[in-house]
Amino acid sequence: MSSRKNHDLRECLGRFATGVTVVTCRGSDGPCGITANSFSSVSLEPPLVLWNIAKVSHSLQAYLDAEHFAINVLAAGQHELSSHFAQSDHTVFNGIEYETSARNVPLIRDSVACFECRTHQVHNCGDHYIIVGEVENYRSGEQEPLLFYDGRYVAMSERQD
Ligand SMILES: Cc1cc2nc3c(=O)[nH]c(=O)nc-3n(C[C@H](O)[C@H](O)[C@H](O)COP(=O)(O)O)c2cc1C
Repeated sequence: MSSRKNHDLRECLGRFATGVTVVTCRGSDGPCGITANSFSSVSLEPPLVLWNIAKVSHSLQAYLDAEHFAINVLAAGQHELSSHFAQSDHTVFNGIEYETSARNVPLIRDSVACFECRTHQVHNCGDHYIIVGEVENYRSGEQEPLLFYDGRYVAMSERQD
């Protein structure tokens, strides 16, 4: 596809509003974290979720090797964390406070929800890998979530029940 069409497709895909997550794992060099909005639920029985990682990601190998990872769903006030974990930097956890799960995975504090997963399947798909995780543990809070729409962070303006 031409780069013009790629640009149009990216813009069109941006019309789909999402939450924002930081996916974390324990790499051989230390904790890894990457901002990702490709998170989706897949199945309740068994409990499966997925996210996509770009093949060009510097932390790709850590996630392909990881037996466990965590999806940390960011709260509205955590947009700086989102920008921080969107940097290409191996020492991205320097200065960030985090907890460590029983599986030795770093967990972001004060997230809206956290899903601790065992890697279930990895699918090679275009310029990304789809990583499917089986949820082993989860927790959620009451905060408003951080949203991403049209290339920007946005606040949830109202609920339509
Ligand atoms: C809101 C947002 C969502 C993103 N979603 C993804 C994603 O789902 N998968 C991905 O590979 N990169 C995603 N990125 C880009 C990565 O966060 C970024 O490329 C990465 O952290 C760069 O570092 P790396 O090269 O070490 O991976 C997203 C970035 C932002 C700001």
